[in-house]
Amino acid sequence: MSLLFCDACRAENERIEAAAVAELAEVRHGAQRRAMKKAANIPPKFQAVKLAGYEVRGNEDLEKARSTVEAIARGFPEKLPTGVIMTGPVGVGKTHLGVVLINAAIYNQMPACYTRASDLIREIKSYWRKDRISDPLEPWLGFDVLFIDEVETGVESQKESLLLDQLIDARWAAGLCCILATNLGLDELVGLIGAPSFDRLCETGYIIQWSDDCPSYRTGQKWSEHE
Ligand SMILES: Nc1ncnc2c1ncn2[C@@H]1O[C@H](COP(=O)(O)OP(=O)(O)OP(=O)(O)O)[C@@H](O)[C@H]1O
Ligand SMILES: [Mg+2]
Repeated sequence: MSLLFCDACRAENERIEAAAVAELAEVRHGAQRRAMKKAANIPPKFQAVKLAGYEVRGNEDLEKARSTVEAIARGFPEKLPTGVIMTGPVGVGKTHLGVVLINAAIYNQMPACYTRASDLIREIKSYWRKDRISDPLEPWLGFDVLFIDEVETGVESQKESLLLDQLIDARWAAGLCCILATNLGLDELVGLIGAPSFDRLCETGYIIQWSDDCPSYRTGQKWSEHE
């Protein structure tokens, strides 16, 4: 039996069908985002952080940090920088803003992951011991954005520094983005990761720096001193 529709009914049917397809795609994207967020390994304390929650209170460093992160996030998914380097004293929001970028990547359907440098190095080494044939860096190449936090705590020997160097090079070659956060100064960071890695990160990357006297948000006392 064939059904005959008038033009108006056909248009209405097409509209309903298109809305159903769009709704299904949205549900599927939502499920994918939830799965990516679960795999992103974000510390519980930072799960809910937002760019809008990053207060700047007229401080130039904080304003610059927030606007740079906003610009990077807006560029996703087309513009993926080779690196984002965040250096500054404790409590200025390096982890906060790094997680904002992870969330922005995931919102754009790009797999992203958080790790502390010490955990990263430990996992690469243990993977190496378990299975000497496979490439121990491979699990870390499955994310468009990899946030390596607290770089200063994980890389102590020359061998560890070389592992990080190889990972940065492999991710750069694959067109993937590394975010590095540290309390080290820029020169000390270059000393730790090496000039070739630093150069790769900077190719189409960003450096976000907080000056040494920038107050820690953790200690409210310092915030009020600056007001
Ligand atoms: N400007 C800010 N506005 C709102 N919350 C902030 C701001 N800066 C930091 N925070 C919050 O303060 C806490 C400390 O920030 P965070 O851990 O990101 O700092 P950090 O620079 O990574 O410090 P550390 O070097 O010790 O790791 C977090 O709970 C974070 O969400
Ligand atoms: Mg931190």
